[in-house]
Amino acid sequence: MPETTTLLAALLEAGQDGYVSGEELARQLGVSRVSVWARLQKLKGEGLTCTAVRGRGYRLAAEPTVLHPAVLAAYIRLRQRGKSPGINVIFLPETDSTNLEAERRLAAGANTPFVVFAARQTAGRGRLGRTWHSAEGGGLYLSFAFQPKLPPARMPKFTLWIALRLCRMLNEGYHLPVKVKWPNDLVFEGRKLAGLLTEARIDADLMRDLVCGLGLNVNGDPERWAQGRSSTGSAAAKIAGTLQQVNSGKPLPINAVAADVVLAGKAAFTDFIAGRTEKEFSELWSRYDALNGNAVSVTLMDGTLKGRAAGLDASGALKISLPDGSIRTVQSGDVSLGGYG
Ligand code: BTN
Repeated sequence: MPETTTLLAALLEAGQDGYVSGEELARQLGVSRVSVWARLQKLKGEGLTCTAVRGRGYRLAAEPTVLHPAVLAAYIRLRQRGKSPGINVIFLPETDSTNLEAERRLAAGANTPFVVFAARQTAGRGRLGRTWHSAEGGGLYLSFAFQPKLPPARMPKFTLWIALRLCRMLNEGYHLPVKVKWPNDLVFEGRKLAGLLTEARIDADLMRDLVCGLGLNVNGDPERWAQGRSSTGSAAAKIAGTLQQVNSGKPLPINAVAADVVLAGKAAFTDFIAGRTEKEFSELWSRYDALNGNAVSVTLMDGTLKGRAAGLDASGALKISLPDGSIRTVQSGDVSLGGYG
C-alpha cells in the first residue's frame, strides 16, 4: 500500500495534463523502470489506468469518480508533503452507518483519532432519527472518532466549528460559495449539501468518545436519487444539492475532496482541544452564517417559532429575535428560511 501511495501521489502531482517520467517514478520508488511498469500494470488491475507517451512518461488516464482508498491515501500524502496526517484512515466498501461503525471500533478499543469512510451505508442516519441517502457514487459518508475529555456542554460548538472549517476549506480550496446552516448543515441557496451528526459517550461529566459523522453530497444530481431508497428518498432529493451543482455542473475530484475533509476535520479537532477557536469561530461565523439576520421558522418539540436569526450565544445556541422584540434562544431544532416578514 505505501508503495502504491507513492506511485499514485507522483502521478497525481503531475496533474491532469502533466506527465511523470518512468525514471522519476523509479527514483521515487527505489526500483527499476521495469518494476515501475509492472506496478503500473497492477494499478490497471485496480481500475487505475495510466497513459504512456514516449519521451514524456506516464499520467493517470482519468481519476476515479468514486472513492478509492489508494487515491485517497495518495491525496493525503500529497497535501501533507509526506508528513503523517496524525489520523488513521479506514475505508470500508459497505457498512450500516459509519457512526455505528466508529462506535463499535471505539468500544473494541481502537486507537484514536481515526476516520472511517464507507463507499455506501445500508442504514445511514441523520438527526432526529431520519435516514441519510447513502448510495455508492457521488457521496462521501464518513465518521471521525476522537477522545477529547471535554465537558459535554462544548459539544454544540464542536459540531459548528467542524462545519465552519469544512465550509472554509470548500470556499477557499474549491471556490464553492457554500455556507453553514445552524445547527449542522452545509448549504447553498437553500439546498442542503451536507449534514453532520455528532454523538458522544459521556463518563463522569466528560466526553470520552466523540463520533462526528459527515454526509457530503459531492457529485451527481439528487433528482435522480432512486425513490424509496431511503424513507426520506424523494423528500430529501427535493431539498438536497451537491457540490457539483454549486460548481456549475462540473464534477469535483471526490478523492481530493475526501482528503481535504480528513485534514480539515483533524486540524479542526486539534485546534478545538487546544482552545484555539474563539476569535476564529466568530470570524468564520460572520463570513459563513447562512441564516444571518434572515426571517426563519424553527420547528421545536412543542411548536413553531417565527422570528429573525440573530446569531449565536456563547454555547452555540441560536438566538431568535421575536416580533415583540424579545430574544429566544434555541438549543436544537429544525430551521427553515422565511416565515416572518
Ligand atoms: C443530518 O443532517 O441529519 C446529519 C446527517 C449525517 C449523515 C452522516 S453520513 C456518515 C455518518 N453516518 C451516519 O449514519 N450518519 C452520518
